[in-house]
Amino acid sequence: MTDKPLDYAARPRDEAAVKTDMPPPASLLAERLESFEDEADMHALSEAATAAILEGGGFGWVKPPKPAVMEQYFRGVALVPERELIVGRMDGVIYGAAQLQKPSRNNEAQAFAAHLMHHFVAPYARGHGLARLILRKAQERARALGFLVLNLDVRETQTGAMSLYEAEGFIHWGTHPAYARVRGNTVQGHFYYKMLK
Ligand SMILES: CC(C)(COP(=O)(O)OP(=O)(O)OC[C@H]1O[C@@H](n2cnc3c(N)ncnc32)[C@H](O)[C@@H]1OP(=O)(O)O)[C@@H](O)C(=O)NCCC(=O)NCCS
Repeated sequence: MTDKPLDYAARPRDEAAVKTDMPPPASLLAERLESFEDEADMHALSEAATAAILEGGGFGWVKPPKPAVMEQYFRGVALVPERELIVGRMDGVIYGAAQLQKPSRNNEAQAFAAHLMHHFVAPYARGHGLARLILRKAQERARALGFLVLNLDVRETQTGAMSLYEAEGFIHWGTHPAYARVRGNTVQGHFYYKMLK
């Protein structure tokens, strides 16, 4: 347990870190994507993920894979039964996503908890509320699936994300001192949970 709460939610938005390159969208939508029937969705998602990784990552990759590898990865995500892909659209185009990881079937003791991972919005689409919408959709979906708890973890450097999670009621319960290695540096990871009922 940490000694004192970090309270990222109380921090003002770091405007320098928010790139609102795009004009405010006419429509915002978050939805579950079960397959890539529209190739434009695949291209937009891969492009958004690549841009987010180049800007600082925070969802696994440190360097973006080649476009074909990225596309293969997302097709795999859509196929894996333990994962659900939630995408965020602005004016119909995908600019961000998150994944809901369900516990494996043999994990009876933790069958009540899902994990939110790989949550990002492309740098050029930030500041319009898309990440919050994706997060709320993921919570809605987790509740609908009967999960009682949503867990997530984040690198200490992702302060914008921590502000969002804390503002949405996620509780910081611990810090892993050696959570990730990023360009030769060891970074801490902050662990959060939220009760869904
Ligand atoms: C964190 C991230 C997803 C936010 O995306 P976004 O679409 O710009 O976020 P939203 O516009 O929905 O912001 C919602 C709230 O989050 C908080 N927030 C988001 N970015 C912030 C920042 N840079 N500084 C402070 N607060 C921030 C604010 O509370 C904001 O509410 P407000 O606009 O009313 O102040 C995006 O910056 C990102 O992809 N970062 C890199 C990946 C990452 O950190 N992923 C999370 C861990 S896997």
